[in-house]
Amino acid sequence: MTPTGALLTAGALRKTYGATLALDGADFGIHPGEVVAVMGPSGSGKSTLLHCLAGIVRPDSGEVRYRGRELSAMSDAERSALRRSDFGFVFQFGQLVPELTCVENVALPLRLSGVKRREAEARSTEWLDRLEVSDVAGKRPGEVSGGQGQRVAVARSLVTGPRVLFADEPTGALDSLNGERVMQLLTEAARDSRTAVVLVTHEPRVAAYSDREVVVRDGVARDMAGVA
Ligand SMILES: Nc1ncnc2c1ncn2[C@@H]1O[C@H](COP(=O)(O)OP(=O)(O)O)[C@@H](O)[C@H]1O
Ligand SMILES: [Mg+2]
Repeated sequence: MTPTGALLTAGALRKTYGATLALDGADFGIHPGEVVAVMGPSGSGKSTLLHCLAGIVRPDSGEVRYRGRELSAMSDAERSALRRSDFGFVFQFGQLVPELTCVENVALPLRLSGVKRREAEARSTEWLDRLEVSDVAGKRPGEVSGGQGQRVAVARSLVTGPRVLFADEPTGALDSLNGERVMQLLTEAARDSRTAVVLVTHEPRVAAYSDREVVVRDGVARDMAGVA
Protein backbone atom coordinates (compact mmCIF):
# COMPACT_ATOMS: atom_id res chain seq x y z
CA MET A 1 0.00 0.00 0.00
CA THR A 2 1.58 3.26 -1.11
CA PRO A 3 -0.98 6.07 -1.15
CA THR A 4 -0.02 8.89 -3.49
CA GLY A 5 2.10 11.47 -1.76
CA ALA A 6 2.21 9.53 1.51
CA LEU A 7 5.24 10.23 3.66
CA LEU A 8 5.17 7.08 5.74
CA THR A 9 3.26 3.89 5.00
CA ALA A 10 2.98 0.44 6.51
CA GLY A 11 1.49 -2.63 4.88
CA ALA A 12 0.44 -5.98 6.39
CA LEU A 13 2.49 -5.59 9.56
CA ARG A 14 2.63 -8.62 11.81
CA LYS A 15 4.45 -8.75 15.10
CA THR A 16 4.35 -11.40 17.80
CA TYR A 17 5.83 -11.38 21.28
CA GLY A 18 6.04 -15.03 22.27
CA ALA A 19 2.45 -16.29 22.03
CA THR A 20 1.01 -12.75 21.87
CA LEU A 21 0.01 -11.45 18.47
CA ALA A 22 0.56 -7.70 18.87
CA LEU A 23 0.00 -6.79 15.19
CA ASP A 24 -2.03 -8.96 12.87
CA GLY A 25 -1.79 -7.40 9.43
CA ALA A 26 -1.87 -3.66 10.17
CA ASP A 27 -1.88 -1.06 7.38
CA PHE A 28 -1.20 2.62 7.84
CA GLY A 29 -0.40 5.76 5.87
CA ILE A 30 0.25 9.40 6.71
CA HIS A 31 0.88 12.50 4.57
CA PRO A 32 3.07 15.52 5.33
CA GLY A 33 1.37 17.92 7.72
CA GLU A 34 -1.32 15.43 8.66
CA VAL A 35 -2.24 14.59 12.26
CA VAL A 36 -3.49 11.01 12.53
CA ALA A 37 -4.87 9.66 15.80
CA VAL A 38 -4.20 5.97 16.43
CA MET A 39 -7.00 4.89 18.76
CA GLY A 40 -7.96 1.64 20.41
CA PRO A 41 -8.22 -0.10 23.76
CA SER A 42 -5.23 -0.88 25.93
CA GLY A 43 -3.24 -3.84 24.58
CA SER A 44 -4.66 -3.53 21.04
CA GLY A 45 -1.25 -2.91 19.43
CA LYS A 46 -1.08 0.91 19.18
CA SER A 47 2.39 1.30 20.66
CA THR A 48 3.70 -1.66 18.70
CA LEU A 49 2.42 -0.04 15.49
CA LEU A 50 4.11 3.25 16.43
CA HIS A 51 7.38 1.47 17.23
CA CYS A 52 7.31 -0.36 13.89
CA LEU A 53 6.56 2.86 11.99
CA ALA A 54 9.46 4.59 13.73
CA GLY A 55 11.87 1.75 12.98
CA ILE A 56 12.36 0.97 16.68
CA VAL A 57 10.76 -2.48 16.45
CA ARG A 58 11.21 -4.73 13.43
CA PRO A 59 7.96 -6.43 12.35
CA ASP A 60 8.00 -10.19 11.75
CA SER A 61 6.57 -9.51 8.30
CA GLY A 62 5.10 -6.67 6.29
CA GLU A 63 6.85 -3.46 5.39
CA VAL A 64 7.27 0.12 6.48
CA ARG A 65 8.25 2.71 3.89
CA TYR A 66 9.45 6.19 4.67
CA ARG A 67 9.70 8.49 1.64
CA GLY A 68 9.69 5.40 -0.53
CA ARG A 69 12.48 3.58 1.31
CA GLU A 70 11.85 0.39 3.15
CA LEU A 71 13.06 0.69 6.75
CA SER A 72 13.99 -2.97 7.07
CA ALA A 73 16.34 -2.62 4.09
CA MET A 74 18.39 -0.02 5.97
CA SER A 75 21.25 -0.82 8.32
CA ASP A 76 20.82 -0.18 12.05
CA ALA A 77 23.10 2.83 11.71
CA GLU A 78 21.05 4.26 8.85
CA ARG A 79 17.85 3.76 10.80
CA SER A 80 19.19 5.51 13.89
CA ALA A 81 20.51 8.36 11.77
CA LEU A 82 17.07 8.66 10.17
CA ARG A 83 15.36 8.69 13.58
CA ARG A 84 17.65 11.50 14.70
CA SER A 85 17.32 13.63 11.56
CA ASP A 86 13.70 13.10 10.53
CA PHE A 87 11.70 11.83 13.51
CA GLY A 88 10.67 13.36 16.82
CA PHE A 89 9.27 11.51 19.84
CA VAL A 90 7.04 12.37 22.80
CA PHE A 91 6.03 9.76 25.35
CA GLN A 92 3.52 9.65 28.19
CA PHE A 93 6.02 10.66 30.85
CA GLY A 94 8.15 13.33 29.15
CA GLN A 95 11.33 11.36 29.85
CA LEU A 96 13.43 14.44 30.34
CA VAL A 97 16.99 14.06 31.61
CA PRO A 98 16.73 14.93 35.33
CA GLU A 99 20.28 16.32 35.62
CA LEU A 100 19.81 18.87 32.84
CA THR A 101 17.82 22.10 32.97
CA CYS A 102 14.73 22.33 30.78
CA VAL A 103 16.48 24.45 28.15
CA GLU A 104 19.40 21.99 28.12
CA ASN A 105 16.92 19.14 27.67
CA VAL A 106 15.38 20.82 24.63
CA ALA A 107 18.85 21.61 23.27
CA LEU A 108 20.07 18.03 23.70
CA PRO A 109 19.04 16.63 20.28
CA LEU A 110 20.61 19.66 18.59
CA ARG A 111 23.83 19.29 20.61
CA LEU A 112 23.94 15.57 19.70
CA SER A 113 23.78 16.51 16.03
CA GLY A 114 26.66 18.93 16.40
CA VAL A 115 24.97 22.31 16.85
CA LYS A 116 27.04 24.68 19.03
CA ARG A 117 25.76 25.32 22.53
CA ARG A 118 24.90 28.98 22.05
CA GLU A 119 22.85 28.40 18.91
CA ALA A 120 21.25 25.23 20.30
CA GLU A 121 20.11 27.05 23.42
CA ALA A 122 18.86 30.06 21.44
CA ARG A 123 16.70 27.81 19.26
CA SER A 124 15.54 25.88 22.33
CA THR A 125 14.55 29.09 24.08
CA GLU A 126 12.35 30.00 21.12
CA TRP A 127 10.62 26.63 21.33
CA LEU A 128 10.08 26.94 25.09
CA ASP A 129 8.54 30.32 24.39
CA ARG A 130 6.28 28.85 21.75
CA LEU A 131 5.11 26.14 24.17
CA GLU A 132 4.53 28.88 26.78
CA VAL A 133 7.07 27.56 29.27
CA SER A 134 9.99 29.97 28.90
CA ASP A 135 9.76 30.59 32.67
CA VAL A 136 11.02 27.06 33.43
CA ALA A 137 14.06 27.25 31.10
CA GLY A 138 16.58 27.23 33.96
CA LYS A 139 14.78 24.71 36.15
CA ARG A 140 15.38 20.99 36.32
CA PRO A 141 12.53 18.61 35.38
CA GLY A 142 12.05 17.67 39.06
CA GLU A 143 11.12 21.29 39.82
CA VAL A 144 8.37 21.73 37.23
CA SER A 145 4.76 20.49 37.01
CA GLY A 146 3.65 17.57 34.85
CA GLY A 147 2.06 19.89 32.31
CA GLN A 148 5.16 22.09 32.10
CA GLY A 149 7.43 19.06 31.78
CA GLN A 150 5.32 17.69 28.95
CA ARG A 151 5.49 21.01 27.09
CA VAL A 152 9.26 20.91 27.47
CA ALA A 153 9.19 17.37 26.03
CA VAL A 154 7.12 18.60 23.08
CA ALA A 155 9.60 21.45 22.52
CA ARG A 156 12.44 18.91 22.55
CA SER A 157 10.63 16.71 20.04
CA LEU A 158 10.13 19.56 17.57
CA VAL A 159 13.34 21.57 17.95
CA THR A 160 15.13 19.58 15.24
CA GLY A 161 12.33 20.20 12.73
CA PRO A 162 11.26 16.55 12.27
CA ARG A 163 9.12 15.46 9.33
CA VAL A 164 7.29 12.97 11.53
CA LEU A 165 6.41 13.35 15.19
CA PHE A 166 5.55 10.15 17.04
CA ALA A 167 3.51 10.86 20.16
CA ASP A 168 2.49 7.90 22.36
CA GLU A 169 -0.22 8.93 24.85
CA PRO A 170 1.42 12.38 25.17
CA THR A 171 -1.25 13.65 27.54
CA GLY A 172 -1.82 10.36 29.37
CA ALA A 173 -0.35 11.65 32.62
CA LEU A 174 -1.97 15.12 32.53
CA ASP A 175 -5.29 16.45 33.79
CA SER A 176 -7.75 17.36 31.05
CA LEU A 177 -7.07 21.11 31.07
CA ASN A 178 -3.29 20.67 30.72
CA GLY A 179 -3.80 17.83 28.26
CA GLU A 180 -5.93 19.98 25.99
CA ARG A 181 -3.45 22.86 26.05
CA VAL A 182 -0.54 20.53 25.24
CA MET A 183 -2.56 19.12 22.34
CA GLN A 184 -3.42 22.59 21.04
CA LEU A 185 0.20 23.72 21.15
CA LEU A 186 1.54 20.45 19.73
CA THR A 187 -0.85 20.32 16.77
CA GLU A 188 -0.51 24.03 16.05
CA ALA A 189 3.29 23.79 15.93
CA ALA A 190 3.19 20.60 13.86
CA ARG A 191 0.75 22.04 11.32
CA ASP A 192 2.82 25.21 10.97
CA SER A 193 5.91 23.19 10.12
CA ARG A 194 4.07 20.54 8.02
CA THR A 195 5.21 17.88 10.46
CA ALA A 196 3.16 14.68 10.22
CA VAL A 197 1.97 13.50 13.64
CA VAL A 198 1.28 9.89 14.57
CA LEU A 199 -0.72 10.43 17.74
CA VAL A 200 -1.41 7.32 19.82
CA THR A 201 -4.21 7.83 22.31
CA HIS A 202 -7.21 6.06 23.76
CA GLU A 203 -8.93 9.34 24.67
CA PRO A 204 -11.50 10.66 22.16
CA ARG A 205 -10.91 14.19 23.50
CA VAL A 206 -7.27 13.99 22.45
CA ALA A 207 -8.10 12.35 19.13
CA ALA A 208 -10.36 15.32 18.39
CA TYR A 209 -7.19 17.29 17.56
CA SER A 210 -6.41 14.99 14.65
CA ASP A 211 -7.40 15.20 10.98
CA ARG A 212 -8.16 11.50 10.77
CA GLU A 213 -8.58 8.51 13.05
CA VAL A 214 -7.25 5.00 12.70
CA VAL A 215 -8.64 2.43 15.11
CA VAL A 216 -6.53 -0.54 16.19
CA ARG A 217 -8.29 -3.64 17.49
CA ASP A 218 -6.57 -6.95 18.14
CA GLY A 219 -3.58 -5.86 16.09
CA VAL A 220 -5.59 -4.78 13.04
CA ALA A 221 -5.66 -1.09 12.06
CA ARG A 222 -8.75 0.35 10.40
CA ASP A 223 -8.88 3.76 8.83
CA MET A 224 -12.13 5.39 9.87
CA ALA A 225 -12.24 7.55 6.74
CA GLY A 226 -11.72 4.57 4.47
CA VAL A 227 -8.59 6.18 3.01
CA ALA A 228 -5.04 5.66 4.16
N1 LIG B 1 8.00 -5.91 24.54
C1 LIG B 1 6.92 -6.71 24.67
N2 LIG B 1 7.05 -7.96 25.17
C2 LIG B 1 5.97 -8.78 25.29
N3 LIG B 1 4.72 -8.42 24.95
C3 LIG B 1 4.53 -7.19 24.48
C4 LIG B 1 5.61 -6.27 24.30
N4 LIG B 1 5.11 -5.10 23.80
C5 LIG B 1 3.79 -5.30 23.66
N5 LIG B 1 3.44 -6.55 24.05
C6 LIG B 1 2.06 -7.12 23.99
O1 LIG B 1 1.52 -6.87 22.71
C7 LIG B 1 0.18 -6.46 22.80
C8 LIG B 1 0.02 -5.06 22.20
O2 LIG B 1 0.73 -4.14 23.06
P1 LIG B 1 0.85 -2.58 22.78
O3 LIG B 1 1.25 -2.37 21.37
O4 LIG B 1 1.71 -2.01 23.83
O5 LIG B 1 -0.67 -2.10 22.97
P2 LIG B 1 -1.28 -0.66 23.29
O6 LIG B 1 -0.22 0.35 23.06
O7 LIG B 1 -2.44 -0.55 22.37
O8 LIG B 1 -1.72 -0.70 24.71
C9 LIG B 1 -0.21 -6.54 24.27
O9 LIG B 1 -0.80 -7.79 24.50
C10 LIG B 1 1.12 -6.44 24.97
O10 LIG B 1 1.09 -7.08 26.22
MG1 LIG C 1 0.64 1.76 24.34
